[in-house]
Amino acid sequence: MLLDGKSTSLAIQSELAEAVAQRVAEGKKRPHLAAILVGNHPASRAYVGHKVKACDRIGFESTLVELSESVTEAALLDSVRQLNEDDSVDGFIVQLPLPGHIDEQRIIEAIAPEKDVDGFHPVNVGRMTLGLPCFLPATPAGILELLKRSGIGTTGKHVVVVGRSAIVGTPISVLLSRSGEPGNATVTLCHSRTVDLASITRQADILIAAIGKAHFIGEEHVKDGAVVVDVGINHIPDATKKSGRRMVGDVDFEAVAPKCSAITPVPGGVGPMTIAALLQNTMRAAARG
Ligand code: GUN
Repeated sequence: MLLDGKSTSLAIQSELAEAVAQRVAEGKKRPHLAAILVGNHPASRAYVGHKVKACDRIGFESTLVELSESVTEAALLDSVRQLNEDDSVDGFIVQLPLPGHIDEQRIIEAIAPEKDVDGFHPVNVGRMTLGLPCFLPATPAGILELLKRSGIGTTGKHVVVVGRSAIVGTPISVLLSRSGEPGNATVTLCHSRTVDLASITRQADILIAAIGKAHFIGEEHVKDGAVVVDVGINHIPDATKKSGRRMVGDVDFEAVAPKCSAITPVPGGVGPMTIAALLQNTMRAAARG
């Protein structure tokens, strides 16, 4: 089974569009998402573009704050402060990565937790870990939603996560081991220092690949009948494309798919779900405000 993130994301966006129309009919304002984009990182530019387009599609307001690659940390902190204080903005994100001269953690910690729809602020990370109401980070939240809507239960399953990033690997491990469904899984978190990775990933009922390396997960890493969730967004040369390159995940899809009971494609899997989850967080921020 192909886990179709694109159509699931569009279904969620239709639900949100209806909820927006309902709010507007009740005389309430449209949810408003803002994004700060620093520099000209092509992938970041594309991701933010997708987020803004999705806002337009479902009737959210959006604001894009573009700052130059050479912006000072003080000026960026000032932009964050302005969005914190702007009552018309329900939630906002600072697209990562930031240029090397900026302390990323310092910027994240400057975001008001109640507007942190990316769920990156330590207050939201801590609340997530404790199972308290909070904004969940968008990619893990999108994965949970995709599993749920695809009828894939996680209770009692062995989930193996490869990659321990703060944005994906670490939070999805926490979320799937929490009490409740989705959750109640036995989670193993693997990373670059894991010894004999394949012997562990082959035990996975659900394998989540969040490494950031094209085609890292091969047929030898996957048990027959496993569910595979590919979080990777990588580009490899492809002379048959006009751009000269093609987007691939962390999983060698051609080799792995025949063994799986379900797998997410790249593109069209986790990526669109990340956008859906961000919009859901923004709707919640607006409903609360
Ligand atoms: N960079 C890669 N993924 C994300 C994300 O989910 N949010 C932000 N702000 N930056 C990212």
